[in-house]
Amino acid sequence: MGITIAIDGYSSCGKSTLAKALAAKLNYAYIDSGAMYRCVTLHCIQRGIIKDGIFLTEEVVKTLPAIHLSFQFNLKTKFNESFLNNKNVEKDIRSLEVAASASSISTIREVRIQMVKLQRKMGENKSVVMDGRDIGTAVFPNAELKLFMTADTDIRIQRRLNELKLRGDKISFAEVKKNLLDRDYQDTHRKESPLIRSADAIVLDNSEMDTEEQLRFALQLANERIKNIKEEKINQ
Ligand code: DC
Repeated sequence: MGITIAIDGYSSCGKSTLAKALAAKLNYAYIDSGAMYRCVTLHCIQRGIIKDGIFLTEEVVKTLPAIHLSFQFNLKTKFNESFLNNKNVEKDIRSLEVAASASSISTIREVRIQMVKLQRKMGENKSVVMDGRDIGTAVFPNAELKLFMTADTDIRIQRRLNELKLRGDKISFAEVKKNLLDRDYQDTHRKESPLIRSADAIVLDNSEMDTEEQLRFALQLANERIKNIKEEKINQ
């Protein structure tokens, strides 16, 4: 049986890149928990519940039963794509507008309860790498390996800017900076499961690391944990 790997950290510090690569190496499932909060946000934008970034919590809660989230593996990209009410929204949920409101939507207790339930269900068979803000603290507090990722703020802004430019978005460094700092503040200061480092999480500051180095680092830790657990089982 495989292990559960929880990767938490700030926005745009490469969590999903690492989580995806790690899952592929270990032949584990990769689950992007942020995509779920983004889907709820997109649904609320589409239904006019969020207007110019403003919403009423009770309207968001009321619409939750109308949201059906699912993921489908794309053989070409080798990545799980997000479906909102059976429509592929993988590209739509990555916009800056969705990102900006997802942070506020994710502060709503009822939204979190529903998402955490889904995340636990998706990870119940282990052999999973899940990334987010509260995976090691709230979703899988018993995960065998927890990583807490961080990177220098300017480096994170530049990475996000490059990503958005690749998508064709016309956006400035200053706009991305505001969005990122607002999200950092909101994610770390909210009442419900704020982003904090779990005491047993290993910090990975990737400011000066390329993706290969990060993968080596994480893979070594994962293989050690897997080996230890196997040995513990044999000795039982
Ligand atoms: O990882 P991301 O940027 O796609 O996440 C979008 C938003 O969702 C982020 O601002 C915080 C929220 N989120 C959360 O509260 N808990 C998670 N486990 C994952 C994301």
